[in-house]
Amino acid sequence: MPLPAPKAGPMVPSALAKRIPKIHLHCHLEGTLRPATFVELADKHGVPLRYRPPFDSAQGDTGRGQSFDCAHSARSAQDDTAYRFEGLQEFLYLFAAVSRSLRAPEDYARLAAEFVDDALAQGVIYGELFVSPSVWTFFNPTLDVRATMEAVVTELRRARPRAIFRLLPDLTRNFGEASATETARAMATMTDLDVVGVSLGGDEVRFPARLFVEPFAYARSQGLHCVAHAGEAGGAASVRDAVELLRAERIGHGIRALDDPSTIELLATRRIPLEICPTSNRLTGVALTGHPHPYADFDRLGCVVTIDSDDPALFETSITREYELVESIAGPAALERYVRNAIEATFAAPIEKQAMRTQLEEAVAELHERSSS
Ligand code: ADE
Ligand code: ZN
Repeated sequence: MPLPAPKAGPMVPSALAKRIPKIHLHCHLEGTLRPATFVELADKHGVPLRYRPPFDSAQGDTGRGQSFDCAHSARSAQDDTAYRFEGLQEFLYLFAAVSRSLRAPEDYARLAAEFVDDALAQGVIYGELFVSPSVWTFFNPTLDVRATMEAVVTELRRARPRAIFRLLPDLTRNFGEASATETARAMATMTDLDVVGVSLGGDEVRFPARLFVEPFAYARSQGLHCVAHAGEAGGAASVRDAVELLRAERIGHGIRALDDPSTIELLATRRIPLEICPTSNRLTGVALTGHPHPYADFDRLGCVVTIDSDDPALFETSITREYELVESIAGPAALERYVRNAIEATFAAPIEKQAMRTQLEEAVAELHERSSS
C-alpha cells in the first residue's frame, strides 16, 4: 500500500528513504571509492590525483595513448575534497583518475569490501554494479582481469544473504569498437563471476552507439543482458539508438529523451526502465539547477523511473541521499513506486524478485504501523 503524500513541502523528513530496501541499478563500483581510500591508494602507487588525456580537446582524441598528469597535489587522507570537477567531461577524467589509483587485485578487493560495508549499512538488498575492466587495463595493461574480477566478487559475495550483487562490465565508448569486442568476449567467459550483462559508458558524443552494434550483438548472443548510458551528453537520438541498435534493456540517465516525444513514446511503450541519478545529473550539468529534476516528467509521461546514485563517492552522495531527495520532493508514494520499478527492472530470478517485493512490503507496512501508532 503506498504511503500518503507528505503534508508539508519539500523539507519533510525522509522516513521512508532511510528504511526502504534499496536497489542499485546504476552504480559504478569504482565511483564508490571513499575519498580517503583514493588518496591513500594514489599515494601508495605514486599516481596523481588528477588525470588528463594528452590532447584534451574534441579533436578525435580517444583518450588512449600517453597521458600527461597535473602535479600530484599534496593532500592528506583526511581531505575529502579530492573529488572535484566541473561538468561531465571533467567528471569522466576524475573517474579515470580514480580508476588509475586501483592497480592490483587487492586494491579492488578493498574497494569492493568498503562498498559492501557502505551498502549494507544503508539497507541495499540487491545490485547490478558497473565495473570498467577496459579502463583498468588502460592504466595497467598487465593487470590480470580475471584475478581482479575474482577479488571483487569474493568481497561482494560476503554480503550474502543480506544482499546480492552482480556485475555489468562496461564496454567504455572511448576505447572504440575493437576494445569493446575484446571486453565483451572476455566478460562472456566470466558468468561464473556473477557477470550478468554488459553496459556502455564513457563519451557518448564522440563515440555513438552505432560503433558498438557488433560487440553488443555478440554479448547478447552469449546470453548477456545489455544496458547503456544514453541521453546524458547525447541527445534523444542517442537514446533511440541505444534501444534500437544496441537493444539496451535499460537506459542510464536518458534525460535528453525528453526533447523528443517519439523517443519518450518508445521508452514508455517498450517499458524500458530509466536509471535516473538526480545528483549526478545536477553536477554534470545534464539537469538544470533551479528547475525540478525531470524524473517526475518521465513518470508523468508513462516511463519506468528508477533512482540511483551513479558514482556516489565522486558526487558526494549515496543511494540513501538520492532516495531522500526524491522522497522529500516527490513524496513517499513516488519513492516506493520507483523502488518497485527497480525490483522489476533487475535481471534477478523470479524467486529473487519475489523475495525483494516481500522485503519492500514489510518495510512499508512497518512504517505505516509506526505512523499510525
Ligand atoms: N562512467 C562513470 N560514470 C559515468 C557517467 N555518469 N556517464 C558516462 N560514463 C560514466
Ligand atoms: Zn553512470
